[in-house]
Amino acid sequence: MGKLASDIFDILDLGGRIFKNREVLRYSYIPDTLPHREREIMNIASILITSLEGHTPSNIMIYGMTGTGKTVVSKLLMKALQEKSEMMDSKVQKSFFNVDSTFLGDDIAAAFSTLSIVLDFDEIYGNELARILHKPVKCIYINCQQMDTQYRVMTQIANRLAPLKEEDRLPVSGLPIDEVHCRVLEKFDSSNSLIIIFMDEIDRLIYKSGDDILYTLTRINEELQKSKVSIIGISNNLRFLDYLDSRVRSSLGAEELIFDPYNANQLRDILTHRAEEAFYSEAIDHDVISYCAAIAAQENGDARKALDLLRVSAELAERDHSPRLSVIYVKQAQKKIEMDRVTQVVRTLPLQTKIVLYSILQQKIGGRIKTTTKEVVETYSFYASKMDLTVLGRRQVVNLMNELDKLGLIQTKVISFGRHGRTTVVEANVPGTEIINNLHNGILSKLKGIKPRMLYTTTF
Ligand SMILES: Nc1ncnc2c1ncn2[C@@H]1O[C@H](COP(=O)(O)OP(=O)(O)O)[C@@H](O)[C@H]1O
Ligand SMILES: [Mg+2]
Repeated sequence: MGKLASDIFDILDLGGRIFKNREVLRYSYIPDTLPHREREIMNIASILITSLEGHTPSNIMIYGMTGTGKTVVSKLLMKALQEKSEMMDSKVQKSFFNVDSTFLGDDIAAAFSTLSIVLDFDEIYGNELARILHKPVKCIYINCQQMDTQYRVMTQIANRLAPLKEEDRLPVSGLPIDEVHCRVLEKFDSSNSLIIIFMDEIDRLIYKSGDDILYTLTRINEELQKSKVSIIGISNNLRFLDYLDSRVRSSLGAEELIFDPYNANQLRDILTHRAEEAFYSEAIDHDVISYCAAIAAQENGDARKALDLLRVSAELAERDHSPRLSVIYVKQAQKKIEMDRVTQVVRTLPLQTKIVLYSILQQKIGGRIKTTTKEVVETYSFYASKMDLTVLGRRQVVNLMNELDKLGLIQTKVISFGRHGRTTVVEANVPGTEIINNLHNGILSKLKGIKPRMLYTTTF
């Protein structure tokens, strides 16, 4: 038995010549260097650094489209700031408790020269004051997308502030909001620190639950005695501040920073760094990176898409037991990613809309690549009745077609036939056979094998 198991892994191992370290391409991975974000990192760091001197940094708003590195830059800064603060903290603590007086002076000196506080302070007022002056910095990261109420955000912030015993944690629901507010204030103050809250995807929260939470958080310093709070808001929507109350707007947007989309060259540098860590150098063709970068640059300069493409390409090459990752696999990966996206969108469509799309695709694979609204309505009616559903009227079908158009699954265009009038030409943007097969295997299994009548002759 033992022999058999080890043989199996020997065989599986044959595929493993490409990946040196898979983790590097995962979303959770935070690389040590972030090419082409040096300026943004410096800008934010120069605002946050005041926290190490015991001052409250201005609130900051960071904007940018998806995949421009907002989250990863924030996490890197958080980590660096937290580490720096802890290091300074331990220096202050050490000097406070250290019995060996020869080291005592040095430690305090070192800690406070970084803190840029005049050294005489220490000598004149003693270590006790040094300890009081030095407030630790505590960073909290909240992804607002997963939180839909003010209550949840407040309790999350409070609960993450310190690793608390179970009985000290605020319940995720059930308390009156005023009570939560008081308890949060208490926790903030008892931590005696500078609290920097990174609120990622902050725009999502506001759409869901309004801006009360931001009003509360941007005013909270007025109520705190020993701690202070700064907020770093991160938004995909550039017009986010327009949705807010003017008082919140001026406080939250005290500093603003925009992350521009990456161009192809920048994406190439980003991918090159990651690829060096992720793959064996001899396992990847030289043109793979540029190819992935070029494709992602066309799609809004999204680094996430570029990394996804590289990861999926490598997985396909590996599954193929190929010793090398070549552009062929990138092309396959591109198709796979697009197909996965489309399948996902189609899966979430309402049944009637699915049938409208199905009708257009049946016409497509029957050779009628461009069709008309009239033909779609007829084919749809045929299939809807086969499914024993209410057959919707022309106007409703046109509405559903507009929905499909908005999702990018089909394309509709009005063309004029001169004095013969105008007609709407409909064309599917997605592969017919795969989607039809998916639908046959799911909710439209009843329609398997039923071909539409197709006697259409209009040409375009
Ligand atoms: N400059 C960069 N260098 C290295 N990796 C990057 C860089 N910018 C973005 N990434 C990577 O691209 C992906 C998307 O970045 P992310 O920070 O999540 O974007 P956003 O939050 O703006 O949508 C992540 O995997 C991230 O690690
Ligand atoms: Mg993000």
